[in-house]
Amino acid sequence: MAGPGDRPGGAARGLLVVGAAEVATLAGGPRRSLAQGDPAIAPPGTAIACLDGRIVAMAPEAEASEALAAALEAGGRDPRAVDVIDASGATVTPGLVDAHTHLLFAGSREDEVAMRARGVTYLEILAAGGGILSTVRATRAASEQGLLAHGRRWLAQMLRTGTTTVEAKSGYGLDVATELRLLAVAGRLAAEGPVDIVPTFLGAHTVPPEVRAAHPGDPAAATEAYVAAVIAEQLPAVAAQGIARACDVFCETGVFSADQSRRILLAARALGLDVRLHADELAPSGGAELAAELGALSADHLGAVSPVGIAALAAAADAGRPVVAVMLPTVPWFLGLDAREPVRELIEAGIPVALATDFNPGTSPVTSLPLVMTAAVLTLRLDPAEALVATTVNAAAALGLADRGALAPGMRADLVAWDVPTHAQIPYWAGADLARAVVVAGRLVAGRPVG
Ligand code: NIG
Ligand code: FE
Repeated sequence: MAGPGDRPGGAARGLLVVGAAEVATLAGGPRRSLAQGDPAIAPPGTAIACLDGRIVAMAPEAEASEALAAALEAGGRDPRAVDVIDASGATVTPGLVDAHTHLLFAGSREDEVAMRARGVTYLEILAAGGGILSTVRATRAASEQGLLAHGRRWLAQMLRTGTTTVEAKSGYGLDVATELRLLAVAGRLAAEGPVDIVPTFLGAHTVPPEVRAAHPGDPAAATEAYVAAVIAEQLPAVAAQGIARACDVFCETGVFSADQSRRILLAARALGLDVRLHADELAPSGGAELAAELGALSADHLGAVSPVGIAALAAAADAGRPVVAVMLPTVPWFLGLDAREPVRELIEAGIPVALATDFNPGTSPVTSLPLVMTAAVLTLRLDPAEALVATTVNAAAALGLADRGALAPGMRADLVAWDVPTHAQIPYWAGADLARAVVVAGRLVAGRPVG
């Protein structure tokens, strides 16, 4: 959560972004229904002035430049201490927000891709002790240094493709010590920057092997025992250290039921954590209904959400308590499922939609949000502008963050200049390396020089 821009002083110099072919501001707050497709394009010629980690002005270049000089002078600084980013021909958007990742784990699971090709399903692999459990074994054995190196490696990839804020879940420890270690690593990575990290506790990802072994032949008893341990041991330890912002549960038939998820999430909320859910990923499991009932920040996946679940989320949105539906379209693609997340139905029902990578070793080893936007446009039939809303302002709302995901004075100066003249081309050039400049908290942190 701490980022370079949060430190007083931030970048000492001002930054001016000029010449953009298009500035998609996404200003005006989270969106739903028809507004889901409104990128809020700024008037032609808009320049963006940034100082001390924030946007200070958005105006024609001369005006923005004057405002920046005045702000520098007011702070007793040289009014000429300004760096300029030439965004000629480029589209400027807010930095992308990845609202759902399992950033921290060890190992890889390419063997399961081959198993699925032979017809074994994801939940069958998990039931046989593979899947999440194989990553738990590797993660428990990993050193803090190893996890840090892994995190740095994949955060750098995310940054290169325009992601400036990443939600990072624990959930491959499944015991107090390892869950705390994963969240501590997320905190260290956040302090290092430049990518800002929002840590989420996901102790209820699956039942760990030692608890399964303690209840031979009785998986229901094992699950109950583990739910009790998450509530009595893991959650209080996580809350005491203040190292997670939210709590998530894998609410899914055969994993944690809606009732068990409710108990965990109510306990989390009582300890001051926000709540979010993996809901109805593979089967309708009451997850969407529970998210609406609890007023969760988000309900994620929803690949198999029921009509009753959609109605519950729609009613919550209409009542002014929107739960953001976080769609993860690379997951059914990677798992080879025919099912598609029913995103058009969700938008038509008035539910705000976000998109995320779900970066994890089992169902989506994908770091690029632009690639997720491409998948959403091609497989979920989203409009490019809807996909942009879903990876910026609505994704920030899914994390409970109102200071980013849009370009406006006072917002964090997180932005990307893309080498395309309109936002509609960001998902179009599938898999291309388009980020000319990535700015976090007013500092240029990635990209390439323009000739
Ligand atoms: O979001 N569904 C649960 N968790 C992850 C997958 C985790 C794994 O397979 O390692 C998901 O799909
Ligand atoms: Fe996930």
